[in-house]
Amino acid sequence: MSSNTVVTNQVFDMADLAVYQTPHSVKTVNFNAKLLEVRWDDGRESVFHAIWLRDNCACSKCKHPKALERTYMFFDHARPEIKAIQVVEGTGVVLDFIQGTEQHSSQFSWAWLRHHCYSQAALAEQKPIKRLWDSQHQHNLVVVDFNDYFTTDNGVKAWMDALLKDGIVLLRGVPTVSGKLIEVANRIGPVRNSNFGEFYDVISMPNPNAVAYTSLGLELHTDLVNWGSPPDIQMLCCLANSVVGGGSIFADGFRVAQDLRQEDPESFQLLSSYPLTYRFHDESCDIATDALALELDPYGQLKRIRFNNWLRSSMQLPAELIEPMYGAIAALWKRLRDTKYHLTTRLAAGELITYDNSRVLHGRESFDANTGNRHLQGCYMNREEIASKRAVLARV
Ligand code: OGA
Ligand code: ZN
Ligand code: ZN
Repeated sequence: MSSNTVVTNQVFDMADLAVYQTPHSVKTVNFNAKLLEVRWDDGRESVFHAIWLRDNCACSKCKHPKALERTYMFFDHARPEIKAIQVVEGTGVVLDFIQGTEQHSSQFSWAWLRHHCYSQAALAEQKPIKRLWDSQHQHNLVVVDFNDYFTTDNGVKAWMDALLKDGIVLLRGVPTVSGKLIEVANRIGPVRNSNFGEFYDVISMPNPNAVAYTSLGLELHTDLVNWGSPPDIQMLCCLANSVVGGGSIFADGFRVAQDLRQEDPESFQLLSSYPLTYRFHDESCDIATDALALELDPYGQLKRIRFNNWLRSSMQLPAELIEPMYGAIAALWKRLRDTKYHLTTRLAAGELITYDNSRVLHGRESFDANTGNRHLQGCYMNREEIASKRAVLARV
């Protein structure tokens, strides 16, 4: 079907605070009752369904003009068909829909359409690029200066980008003041409380309620595995580290799991199909959950690694899976112990390491508490805070 074209300097309001821009121009536009097809200058072909377009109308009847949330309920209307379109060159397209006895007109800017295209090529492009690493990452660990982080958008952006890409980033020059890590977190958003409080002191204690609060070495692990959804982001701020020992170890769990998937697919399959039971309990709480050690997304990509031996509770699985599951855990554990995956560092006072607790495992060497002082403070955040801060900063 044909369309008519007009040229104006109109801007279509998409009822969206994000700023959508595209360097691409539209070559051809075609439609029928069910589909709108847009071909772009780079060869990308976007096909949008009439029902999808109608559902995404941004007019003030379909999106609340202040709340910017959807008020249109497709369920209450007849199935839409595209009756006519008008191309507004350089701006977007106006669609006239017919829905039973109703008619409706919707505007879409090209940039918005390009951004929301759901062709296979577009979906592949949207996936965040993670840079999986091994021990060589020691030399590439991104370090951001505390003042840059606090006083510049570029500083905080560099920090967030590294966290998303590498799952780990170091901040240097943090004042060694108790609770400072909360200010660091609040530059992004609120922290996530846990049974350990808003933040917690990692020191060797006489009556510890967790092995972290001893001077024992800690094998690579993720934190709060006993929670239904463990916190995504963990911060550890070093206030003092003058003891003998106490170095830090990190590993990219996605890298290790990727190798496991290739080298021992049966173990990978077990760990990503059957849950382990994890539990933490002390005088005042008792929190347990059944969860996969290797959680995959609907596309089969790793979503979360959850591994913590001291919080592993007794296994509750069908009898025939008990021995294979021990074998699978051992296969993962063996790789986690392999130094080819280890990023080792020694946190110094004024350094704050942040990592993605759904991807990067952390651990430490034992230390001799009689040789000095070791004091870290830790807190957690949800990944949504990071995503939100990035999106808001990208609006300008
Ligand atoms: C923790 C932890 C590591 C360290 O507190 O979760 O693992 O270096 N601490 O003390
Ligand atoms: Zn509308
Ligand atoms: Zn820990």
